[in-house]
Order: sequence, then C-alpha cells, then structure tokens
Amino acid sequence: MKLHIAEMLRAQKRHISFHTPGHKRAGADITELPYSDCLVSPTGVLLKAERDVAQVLGAERSFLLTDGSTCGVFSMVDAMKARGVKKIAVPAFSHPSVFHACEALGVAIEPVMQDMVRGFPVQPASKALERALENADALLLTSPDYYGFFAPLEEARRLCDEQKKPLAVDGAHGSHLHFCENYAGKYADLWVDGVHKSLPALTQGAVVSAKNGWAEALHESVLKFRTTSPSYPIMASVEYAVKFPRNEKIERAAEEAKRDMGAVSNADWTKILLSFADMGGAERFLEAHGVYPEFNDGNYLMFYLSPCTKARELKKLARLVKKLPRREVAEDAPAGAIPMYEEG
Ligand SMILES: Cc1ncc(COP(=O)(O)O)c(C=O)c1O
Repeated sequence: MKLHIAEMLRAQKRHISFHTPGHKRAGADITELPYSDCLVSPTGVLLKAERDVAQVLGAERSFLLTDGSTCGVFSMVDAMKARGVKKIAVPAFSHPSVFHACEALGVAIEPVMQDMVRGFPVQPASKALERALENADALLLTSPDYYGFFAPLEEARRLCDEQKKPLAVDGAHGSHLHFCENYAGKYADLWVDGVHKSLPALTQGAVVSAKNGWAEALHESVLKFRTTSPSYPIMASVEYAVKFPRNEKIERAAEEAKRDMGAVSNADWTKILLSFADMGGAERFLEAHGVYPEFNDGNYLMFYLSPCTKARELKKLARLVKKLPRREVAEDAPAGAIPMYEEG
C-alpha cells in the first residue's frame, strides 16, 4: 500500500517558512499547509491515510493520534458518554488513563475484579464481566494486557450484545495483532491501537477506531482531545507502522525463545516475562551487556518485542538469561509495581 504522508513529505519543495514550527527548517516536521492537509477536517493525504488505516484495522473510521493511546482512551470514554453512558465496567488493573478519563468526564466506574496469580493480574473471568456489566452501561477492557494476556473478547462481545451495551477496548499493547483473531477491532465498537508500542511508529503514535455506528460520536470526541498541532513525522510513522507487513519469522522465534528460556506461558508473542532469583542483579547484568527490558516489576522482567526485533537479539537474550539464577514466582505472590502505572 502507498504511504501517502511519507510520499507527500518526500515530494515537498523548499520554501521560506513564515509559519510554525519555530525552527524554520525544511524537512518532515512541518505544519498543516495547503499541500500537507489538515487533521481536523482532512481532504488530502491525511484523509487517504486515515481511510487506509481504517481499512487495514477493519474500522468504519480510524483517527490518527499523535498524543498516544491516552488521547484515544479519553475520546472513547467521551464518545460513550455523549451517547448516554453514565457508568462503565472497568477491570481493576486498567491503565490510569482509563480512570483519569472517567474522573475528568464525570463517568462512574463499576470495577471488575481481577485475581492475582503468580504476581500479575489475570484477565477477568466471563462471570465477573457479566456481573459488572449488569451494573454498568458499557464495558472497557484492556487487551492484550502488559503481561501478554488477552481479555475474553468473544465472551465480552456476546455479553454486550445481549445487554445492548457498547464494548470499548484499550489495545495500547495490541496494534501488531490486526492480522489475528485476537485483535480488539474484531470485537469492539471502539478501540485504541497504541501503534508506537508494538509496531514501528514513533513514540506517541496511536490510532483510535470505531465501527457498528460509533464513528460519528468518536469523531466528535476526538476533536476535543487531539492536539491541533499534529506532528507529521509521527503521523507518517503511524501510517507506515499500520501498513508494516507481518513478521511471522520473528513471531515463531519469539515463541521458541520463550519455551527455551522458561518464560511465563502467555498469549502474546511480543511480551516475554522472566523471573530471576535476584531481579535487580539480573537487570543490571543484562543492562551491562546492552540489553534493556521494558520493566522490572519486582516479580518479572518484561521484554517487549515487535516485528522489528531481530532473531539475533533474541538469541543474545537467551544466551545471557542462561547465565542467571532463576526462580518461580509463587502462586500467591503479591502484584509487582509496574513503574509507569504508578501515580504521583
Ligand atoms: C494499557 C495501556 N493503556 C493506555 C496507555 C497509554 O498509552 P500512551 O502512553 O500511548 O498514551 C498505556 C501506556 O503504557 C497502557 O499501558
């Protein structure tokens, strides 16, 4: 597929800038100009890019975001509120942006309890979803989660259909799944793809999408939260990342590496969870060898992969891990502290 935004940027002619940004340099970091389109009401390259992205993701409409998944979460909650949702069933270990959006927008939360097993929260069981949804007007799940597990999306869709309530999914960690059955967009009315996390997009690049008649409401909401100065490098990278081909070779290599290293058996190939006898020592040892994990929650080091991860990098990780004493996390171990989820 053609990369509309990148091609526009490449085809730019030199010009004198009496417009923002203040660095006044030619290059990819331009503002909205007659030839570069306008994200609020796109009619050119941005419209083409958003249409292609929607097609790839199976959406009625998709909106490019340069403000991270956070902007998408706020937009989804606002869209549901605009259509009469007053209370949303939300799993207890959702990202702070979900709670912040509900608080800021005056939407109540019906918590969905999550059990803790071996130090991480497990996705809520269908029964817990059903009970919570009975007391709420909508459901907002996270899938996959930071530990690489999928929410019971099929079940959630069935429950939402039965109760005629919308299903929203925070897919901040799942944009690489649009080729797969477990993709949020196959089930949700509204969903976010945190493209920058698991596909080759620049940090903050994300997409929020809608189907089943939610596109107009989502559009209205996106306009409230999205920046009016979108970054073209980020938008171009989101279009590139969504169109990036699947890399089944690295997916297979990741699953093999997980087995080889004795990682937690999770569902999402991009997240490898390993526990060590000395967590801090293991982290320092790996870093001294130039290997940096996504987080150390005290129970696990999590290694975040993408289609751009190289097989030789996985091999190096496996080689180093073999030198480190390991441990099993106990069934009843308390939750770890995921650094970026901590408030304040
Ligand atoms: C589950 C989840 N949702 C939403 C977000 C927010 O994403 P962003 O940092 O792109 O705004 C994160 C960030 O870590 C996350 O883990």
